[in-house]
Amino acid sequence: MVATPVGFSLVVLRNVALFSGLDDLELEKLSKVSGRKRVERGAFVVRAGESTDSLYVLLAGRAKVTNTDEDGREIILAWLGPGEFFGEMGLIDGSPRSANVVAAEACELLFLSKDAFQRCLQDNFQVAQKLMKTLVLRLREADRK
Ligand code: CMP
Repeated sequence: MVATPVGFSLVVLRNVALFSGLDDLELEKLSKVSGRKRVERGAFVVRAGESTDSLYVLLAGRAKVTNTDEDGREIILAWLGPGEFFGEMGLIDGSPRSANVVAAEACELLFLSKDAFQRCLQDNFQVAQKLMKTLVLRLREADRK
């Protein structure tokens, strides 16, 4: 996995739905603390059971959220596409990763450290609200399965 510790241009951040309520000053702050990663198809971005350090936003490519059953078979929990985020659960409650997230094709990712994520939530209620909405949607979706 290639990690580049450089910030993003405002144009990229303006197009991320999770950050759409933020003004340029807030986006500028975020651009200084966010990083970029490119992963190849088949790479695990996070693994179930690992400790949690970052929130990820998919900028390009698709990823699948998976777990394994008792026989080691893959269970696909969800598919994620550009603009969608993952890794919030472990950051919220401090638990290890609840699932794998695997690049289904080459992906470009933005990531925020735990500290940066928590500061962003504290400073921007709109971001916290969007995050909670997505969590509720995912919960409803999981309940339907
Ligand atoms: P986290 O537990 O930190 O790491 C794995 C991530 O996969 C998790 O956060 C969520 O972002 C995501 N995830 C887990 N379960 C689901 C699901 N049922 N639907 C969508 N995303 C999920």
